[in-house]
Amino acid sequence: MAEVLRASEFDSTLFERRIGKASVSASEALRSLALELEEFDGAFVAVRDLSLVPAVCRMGEVGAIDPRYEFAKPDAGRGRPWPKTMRPVTDEEEIHHLVRQTFLISRFHKDPRTAGHADDLYRLWLTRGIESGRVMAYLKDGSVTGYIFHDVDGDGSGRHVLAAVDAQVRGRGIYRAMITASEHAFSPGRTARGKVSVDNVGPVRVLLSLGYLVDYLETVVHVWR
Ligand SMILES: CC(C)(COP(=O)(O)OP(=O)(O)OC[C@H]1O[C@@H](n2cnc3c(N)ncnc32)[C@H](O)[C@@H]1OP(=O)(O)O)[C@@H](O)C(=O)NCCC(=O)NCCS
Repeated sequence: MAEVLRASEFDSTLFERRIGKASVSASEALRSLALELEEFDGAFVAVRDLSLVPAVCRMGEVGAIDPRYEFAKPDAGRGRPWPKTMRPVTDEEEIHHLVRQTFLISRFHKDPRTAGHADDLYRLWLTRGIESGRVMAYLKDGSVTGYIFHDVDGDGSGRHVLAAVDAQVRGRGIYRAMITASEHAFSPGRTARGKVSVDNVGPVRVLLSLGYLVDYLETVVHVWR
């Protein structure tokens, strides 16, 4: 049977444990997962079928459970240029005041075994995004009040990865404006995607009202031996 769990070098280095990653959508994969887990300290397992979550949780000690929607909007791409309210972030300093506000609710912060390095994970991730021009700043009266990180696939479709708005100016439609603007990163007619934790009410409302549909529900379980 094909391997279910892949070693994650990036996570293992950062969290100083042997960490595997898996995506499980059928009960047949569970036996292999349990066996392969013996080679690791823990795993981040994305489970598509909710009824399989308890079986994954029973494989070890649970650090975090994060149910999230995978949203998709076919035909979302708008093509360049970006609206004038947005420009690429060139230096992490520009969004430094917003970075900590983004992550407080993440699964890496909730899990006691990853919490100590969770800020480093996001900083590294954002730095890489900034270096490759994928993090855009939202400007209001000349100041950076939000940012949004996107990824583009080879076919011009893409993903909204991460976003945050300054706590002082939330609830005024800035996130909504950034999602719409970010669709300019994707080729005309191509699909835009994004994952949102089910209890993150604001983004769920905004994405639904902008025509994003729930493609599937997925639960990520951090399971440790
Ligand atoms: C999520 C976040 C980016 C939203 O930014 P924002 O500029 O305040 O968002 P908007 O003003 O565009 O929209 C907020 C929407 O959420 C709704 N909302 C927010 N909290 C809500 C709640 N508790 N119950 C119901 N609706 C809520 C608002 O009513 C609004 O919806 P509407 O436009 O349908 O009225 C901001 O809160 C943030 O930075 N959070 C921390 C980081 C984060 O969670 N990022 C998203 C995942 S990466």
